[in-house]
Amino acid sequence: MRDILIVANWKANKTKDEAWDWFEKFEKAKIDTTGKEIIICPPYTLLAKANYLVSENNLKLKIGAQDVSEFETGAYTGEISASQIKEFVQYVIIGHSERREYFHESDEALSKKVSNAISANVLPIFCVQSENTKIPIGVKIVAYEPIAAIGTGNSETPVDAEKIAKTIKDKNKEVAYVLYGGSVTDQNVKDFINMPNISGVLIGGASLDSPEFIKILQAC
Ligand code: PGA
Repeated sequence: MRDILIVANWKANKTKDEAWDWFEKFEKAKIDTTGKEIIICPPYTLLAKANYLVSENNLKLKIGAQDVSEFETGAYTGEISASQIKEFVQYVIIGHSERREYFHESDEALSKKVSNAISANVLPIFCVQSENTKIPIGVKIVAYEPIAAIGTGNSETPVDAEKIAKTIKDKNKEVAYVLYGGSVTDQNVKDFINMPNISGVLIGGASLDSPEFIKILQAC
C-alpha cells in the first residue's frame, strides 16, 4: 500500500516564533507517522526555518511551498523561482483557488509553473476545483478542492468527492494521487481517506494549530 499524503497549507499565516512553537509541539507529541507522507507548506518566509527545524529535530515531515513563479530565475521583481524553492522543498502547491481568484492565474501561467517545478525536481500538487479543471502535463498529484468547501466548515461529502476523484483519474491517466481539500477535520478525515480513489487530504485552517493537526493525523 502506498503512503497517504497529508498536506498542510498554512497560507499567509505564522511568524518565525509561531512556526517554532508549532514544530516544537509536533516534535514533543512524538506521533507515529508510519504510512503517511506529511507535507507542511509554510509561506516563503518560513521555508528556510521549517527546513532547518525538520532536519535538526529529525522530524518525519516534508516541506512544500505554496506557489512558485511562472518565470525562471532572472529579472522578475518579487518572484520566487523553482530553482530557488528547490533548496528547501520537495513539493509545491500550484493552482490553489485563492491564487486563481485573487491573483488571476491563468491555465497558461499554471502550466508554466508546473513545468518549472518539474524541471527543478519539485513535485507539483496541482489544485483543481472540479473534474473539468485543466490539468497540465506531468502532474501526478492533484488536490480536488471544491470552492464552497474551503474555509467554510462545509466539507463535500466523501461519496461526492470520491466520484470526482475517480473521474479525474479516468480522464487524466498520469494522475496517480487525488487528494481532497476543504474543511477537513479530525472528525471527517477518515471518511475521505477510506475512499478508494482518494489518496490523502489537503488541510488549511485545521493545520495551523499543532495539536489540532496532530489529532487529524491520529484519526487517519
Ligand atoms: P480549509 O482550506 O481546510 O481551511 O478549508 C483548504 C485549502 O484551502 O486548501
